[in-house]
Amino acid sequence: MANVTQGLERIAVAESRICSIDGVAGELIYQGYDIQDLALNTTFEEVAYLLWRGDLPTAGELADLNGQFQDERDVDDAIYTLAKALPKSIVLMDALRTLVSLLASYDDEMADNSADANLRKSVRLTAKIPTLLAAVHRAKRGLEPIRPERSGSLASNFLYMLSGSAPDDFVAKTLDTALVLHAEHGMNASTFSARVTVATLADLYAGVTSAIGTLKGPLHGGANALVLEMLDEIGEPDQAAPYVKRVLAGEHTVGSLAPKRIPGLGHRVYKALDPRAAVLRSMSRTLGERAGDLHWIDLSEAVVVACEEAGLSEKAVHPNVDFFSASTYRTMGVDTSLFTPVFAMARITGWTAHIMEQHANNRLIRPHAVYVGERDRVVKPIADR
Ligand code: COA
Repeated sequence: MANVTQGLERIAVAESRICSIDGVAGELIYQGYDIQDLALNTTFEEVAYLLWRGDLPTAGELADLNGQFQDERDVDDAIYTLAKALPKSIVLMDALRTLVSLLASYDDEMADNSADANLRKSVRLTAKIPTLLAAVHRAKRGLEPIRPERSGSLASNFLYMLSGSAPDDFVAKTLDTALVLHAEHGMNASTFSARVTVATLADLYAGVTSAIGTLKGPLHGGANALVLEMLDEIGEPDQAAPYVKRVLAGEHTVGSLAPKRIPGLGHRVYKALDPRAAVLRSMSRTLGERAGDLHWIDLSEAVVVACEEAGLSEKAVHPNVDFFSASTYRTMGVDTSLFTPVFAMARITGWTAHIMEQHANNRLIRPHAVYVGERDRVVKPIADR
């Protein structure tokens, strides 16, 4: 395969000010701030501001942004009607992709790619995605959607719209921190697809729709739901080692993942522990202690030990962001079907930051393929083929 870099590994495709990752040191930085500092000391709304504008907000700027988010949470009545009409079997990521695409038609600024309009659309989409997800999730179970409240954080309002009751503060704060951890991650597959789409000067909604389709895959955002599928199959910690052995021997495959792969482990960039996994690991344990339910975190830790003993850490295969998201969300009581959509709910901020960066300094993204097919063929009449 002369001159082909399959998977674009280590190929730089843009200069970006948004995010820096050092996969060997296990370091992740948003706009100059370390992820562990942000996870401990900021909210998701502050991180959205940071990703879009390059600086953390002042108290006044944050209050203004929170007001905009609260104003923009609700969606047109027709969207609620459609959410109820969708097939009950619909996969939430598919519903999200479709409804985000549809929202474009309700936005008068859809075709305006200016920086100001893109920022307003980024606020709108970040505010509305939780509403879309909660509405479809309820409709799938035959329940009436609950409209958003014009108060509280994006995380707490999302939990409220799922159940209809105000969430526990600690649980809402844990989800908020999980959103901070998932907000941005450089030139990952979904962000790249958003940038490819808008580099044609397609609008922000088109870029986000592409990104949602890309995030769905089990090698990307879809892995967190597969982690829970695996934990369910394992059942108890003492079964982790034989299970891992069977998967690595190719005797059992986890969901739609490739054979011999453990979901939530390994990363194209991190060769050390993903720093987001470290934060989620301790959040997951704290949540479990508070809830009096350490089953999911203990089971997850047993899988990590089994994978280390099977030699995966020697190949630099460690838990990634998806691994401890599963035990965290499950202990919070979030349904598995929402795991990947919650990732999208956070990553919308990173996608839109990249879309704005792409539009600010655009060049069509158009790589090429090395042709290895046949040549000099001549069309025969159909009767002679
Ligand atoms: N389970 C078991 N082995 C794994 C593994 C996993 N999850 N991830 C990587 N490896 C092993 C490979 O088998 C390979 O071993 P080998 O050299 O003996 O053949 C080695 O590690 C390198 O793997 P490679 O496929 O080249 O890495 P990649 O950069 O292409 O893959 C992922 C990155 C994320 C696609 C891969 O780690 C994976 O499939 N992980 C599971 C899905 C997942 O969690 N995705 C979310 C990512 S945030």
